[in-house]
Amino acid sequence: MTVATPPLPDEAPDHYLSRLGTVFAHFDRQDSGNVSYGVVIDGERCFVKTAGHPGHTPFLDHAQRVDLLRNAVRLALAYRHPALPALHTVVESAHGPMLVYAWADGELVGVPREHRDDPTSAFHRFRSLPAERILAVLDTVFDVHDLLGRDGEVAGDFYDGCLIYDFTTRHVSVIDLDTYRPGPYRNDMGRMFGSSRFMAPEEFTLGALIDQRTSVFTMGRTVRVFLGDHLPGPLQEVVTRACRPDPAERHASLPEFCAAWRDARSQLG
Ligand SMILES: Nc1ncnc2c1ncn2[C@@H]1O[C@H](COP(=O)(O)OP(=O)(O)OP(=O)(O)O)[C@@H](O)[C@H]1O
Ligand SMILES: [Mg+2]
Repeated sequence: MTVATPPLPDEAPDHYLSRLGTVFAHFDRQDSGNVSYGVVIDGERCFVKTAGHPGHTPFLDHAQRVDLLRNAVRLALAYRHPALPALHTVVESAHGPMLVYAWADGELVGVPREHRDDPTSAFHRFRSLPAERILAVLDTVFDVHDLLGRDGEVAGDFYDGCLIYDFTTRHVSVIDLDTYRPGPYRNDMGRMFGSSRFMAPEEFTLGALIDQRTSVFTMGRTVRVFLGDHLPGPLQEVVTRACRPDPAERHASLPEFCAAWRDARSQLG
């Protein structure tokens, strides 16, 4: 899809998007400070992500948020996968870039902590699915990370809020890879961005080395969050290794973890 109409000079994204199509959803309470929209453009539902208001500076200022969106564009151009919503186009505006993605159908698996035990929440319903369906989603998530890992990307801020699951079609979408970047690099934040349920010890340690072994830990935690601590033998072994506190004792890379996962999966029959 191309968007033929450019924004007017200094036109705000919400104004522009309502000229362009029909805005049916707003995402303006994100920790990131970004503001995103669901918009029907030329009859197609799209997800449009912007860096939000320049005056709003929660953790990152506007320029830093724009940098992350540029990184998201880099990733979208470099990696294509059925689970990654396609980036249709980028519209430049005085307020920064607007990233126009395909809309992902389904429900966000991650919900606020207080709703996780609520049987009607997407998180609870997802966790209550038969193990085989959850395993199929994990296979896809790891397939995406195998692809990214082969090129040296290190995961950032991956958690259940990066998964949109369609309970009807069983399609999973992986969203918000904005902070993925080539590694290794040093933790220069202390506590890094992320959900602590998914984070490795080195993501809490200023100066620690962050590399794909950190991402391996996050993948292992993803299995634990969705399937709990009691896994069939071969999977248990892979996940226990992935979640070892000492990075040196984990799988050395995302592709290595993914190969071990696939191998263990094939042993389940
Ligand atoms: N392609 C998409 N299709 C439909 N909904 C989406 C899509 N991408 C994201 N969303 C929804 O929009 C919300 C915000 O998206 P995203 O997480 O990418 O934004 P963010 O600004 O990085 O926010 P956060 O601070 O939560 O990381 C998601 O939680 C999800 O509900
Ligand atoms: Mg984000």
